[in-house]
Parts: sequence; structure tokens; C-alpha cells
Amino acid sequence: MAGTLVVGSQWGDEGKGKVIDAFSKTSKMVVRYQGGPNAGHTLVVNGKKTVLHLIPSGILHPHAKCVIANGVVVDPITIAKEIENLKTNGFLKEDSQLLISDNSTLILSYHRALDMAREEAKGIHKIGTTGKGVGPAYEDRASRKALVFKDLFSADLKQKLISALEEKNALLTYYKKENLSADTIYDELMKVTKLLEPYRCADTSYIVSQAHKNGDDILFEGAQGSMLDIYHGTYPFVTSSSTIAGSCLIGTGVGPNMIDKVIGITKAYTTRVGSGPFPTELLDETGAFLQKEGNEFGSTTGRARRCGWLDLVALNYSIRLNGTNEIALMKLDCLSKLDQIGVCTAYEYKGDRLKEFPSDISVLEGMKPVTEFLPGWKKDITAVNKFEDLPKELRSYIDFIEEYAKTPVDFASVGPGREQSIWRRGIFS
Ligand code: IMP
Repeated sequence: MAGTLVVGSQWGDEGKGKVIDAFSKTSKMVVRYQGGPNAGHTLVVNGKKTVLHLIPSGILHPHAKCVIANGVVVDPITIAKEIENLKTNGFLKEDSQLLISDNSTLILSYHRALDMAREEAKGIHKIGTTGKGVGPAYEDRASRKALVFKDLFSADLKQKLISALEEKNALLTYYKKENLSADTIYDELMKVTKLLEPYRCADTSYIVSQAHKNGDDILFEGAQGSMLDIYHGTYPFVTSSSTIAGSCLIGTGVGPNMIDKVIGITKAYTTRVGSGPFPTELLDETGAFLQKEGNEFGSTTGRARRCGWLDLVALNYSIRLNGTNEIALMKLDCLSKLDQIGVCTAYEYKGDRLKEFPSDISVLEGMKPVTEFLPGWKKDITAVNKFEDLPKELRSYIDFIEEYAKTPVDFASVGPGREQSIWRRGIFS
């Protein structure tokens, strides 16, 4: 009877997919509630890699019902490809395993075109979006112009596309981009509607609340990271949805009493993709080393991720925003070859030491991180499966984080594989 919420503590790509997959073993339902195909969750099972952008990361466990709730922006073409790919690989055998809310927002090709046109127009000031149309689709939702998932199956879909394109083509003309045709978009959608129809769900909020009433364990899967939150992140270099814990309630349509625990997925170092302030960024050979060791290239866009040390000031901010109860510490194995590991414990700004994350990004741009160094463990940890068997330097590193963040580290990831996971207590304990 537990609701567990998994959120990213940093700028995304922390390893949420792996944690969701690991814990889906014991949960009956996994719910995605915000974001869209800008996310890329990578799962490695028996050496085989699956990358998911829209479908919840519980899908590789046939007993876990996967729900895409109202707060998600769904690209029908992308999700159709994901479904086909899963089926080809022997997953998603039962249609009833996946439910897509009729009221989730559609991303259509004009959203992608506008996303890219706007970024191009911004030039050096671009946000560095994933180009997946996520921002323009959320804009349409906020201005009550969006098409929703159920529209894909309605008789007046073509008319809705014609109406939408009146404005979108005017915008594309403004950006000197080619206009789009309703017929082409319609024909493209018609190729996937038959495949998607079995997954329609009129009211996913009701389904989730029924599961809660039945006493089922439910996992809520956040996408992106807390520092990319539209209200509390490093605005304007953020995504277009709220990525912090509170967003789960809104996107799913449930009350706070459904959440028993918030787990903050935290990479043992920090990465960021796209533009915007990054206090601990390393533009030297250590940064290049982390990029190589961690294979830090985006699973959605292939872009190289910027890398730096773990930032405890930002982590504490994220813990505050989310009410994080436990930390899952990811990619520890990527630090194994280093002599010493840096950790940022404060920012220095105009002679002051800041311990709280500044809300003004101009402060972030002008500050210097205060970095402490801890000894590295210099051992291969990829086969360790008990906390007590981790090298003592690594346990000290974890103690340091726990002490600074005043939050327990209950899960440690020592490799990409499902089995390379160590936890102190069960997720629903
Ligand atoms: P958008 O979400 O595509 O609009 O991109 C806005 C910003 O969020 C850009 O800096 C992206 O790189 C970043 N972003 C969006 N989704 C993710 C993600 O899943 N992981 C990491 N960064 C992301």
C-alpha cells in the first residue's frame, strides 16, 4: 500500500530509468506524469539496452501496469515506434499493460518545427532544447489550443489540424520556415492510430486511485531533473514542465496522501546537457574523463553532456524542493579510477560563502564553487553486491554526502546492469 515517487535531483540523466526498472519488480503500477519524449531512460537487462522516451520504465516487467497520465505530452509517432520496438523484443505482450490517458497532450509535427525554429532564431542565446516539441506542446495546453490523445480517434481530427495550422503556419512563416500541411500530418497520424487505440484510457487518475485503494504498490516516475523545473530551476534554462515532486500530484490527478516516500536519484557527479549555469562544470581533462567513463552522451539527442563534480549545494536545494526522504546514488563505478573525488560544499560570491542555492541565476553565473577533495577508492566495484563490501573510501564518500545532505543514501548503483544495484532496505519498507 505504498506510493513511491522517484525524481531526478540534478539536471536530468541521473539514472531514473534504472531505479524505476529495479524497483518495478515489486510494484504493480508505474506512472509517468510529466515531460515527454525529451526524456531518455536507459535500461540494461542481461546486457541488452532498451531506451525509453515516453513509456514508463516499468514496462520490462510484465506484471507492472504502466500508465501515461494527463500531465505528459505524447508524441504519437515516437510512442508508436517505442511500442513496436518493445513488441519486437518480446515485451508488452498484453495490451492491458500500457494505459495512455485520453486527456494527455499531443505533440504534433508543428510543435517540433516550432521548437527548432525558435532555438535557431535565438542563436547563441538558445536554451539547447531537445527539439522534440515539448515546450510548444505545453504552450498549447496552457493556451487551451492543444489536441489531446483522444482527438487522434475522433472524426473531426483533420478539421482540428486545419484550425491549428492557421496559427502555426503563420508562426512558421514568421520564422521563415516552410508551412506544414494538415493532409500530411493527418496521413502520418493515420498510420499509427490503429496501433495506439488499444492503449487508450478515459481516466488514468481513476485507475491510479483504484490501484491505491486495492493496496497496490505504485511507483511514480519523474522525468528530467529538479534543477530543470520550470518554476524552481535555473530559469530560463529549464524544461517546460514542473519536474519536482509536487508535479506528480498535478500530472497524475491524485492527492498528497498517496505519496509515502520520495527518492532523489542523484548521480555521484553532475551532468548537464544544453545551455545554462552549471556551478561545478569541469572544462578540463577531469571533465573529459567523466564524460568518457560515464558515456555521457544524450540518449535522446546524442549530444555530449557537460560534466562536473557532485554539487551538494544544488543537491540540498533539490532535497528541499522535493521533500526527498532517500537518495539513490548512481554511477559510482564511473569514479573508480580517480585518485581523489571532488565535492562542492559551498559557492563563493563577492567575498561571501553561500550555502543555499541562489535563486538569481546571475549569482550562479558569477560565483566560484568551493570544492573539497576526498580520497578515491581505485578499485573495481562493478561486482560488489553488499553495502558492507564497498571499499571504505567509497563508504566515507557516501557518509560525507549523507552528513551534508542530512538524508540517507539507501541505494547505490555500481554499474549499468539491473543486477548491479545495492540497497540497504527494500523500496517499500
Ligand atoms: P526541452 O525539454 O526539450 O524543452 O529542453 C529544455 C532543457 O532541458 C534543455 O537544456 C534540455 O537539454 C534539457 N532536458 C530536457 N529533457 C531532458 C532530459 O531528459 N535529460 C536532461 N536534460 C533534459
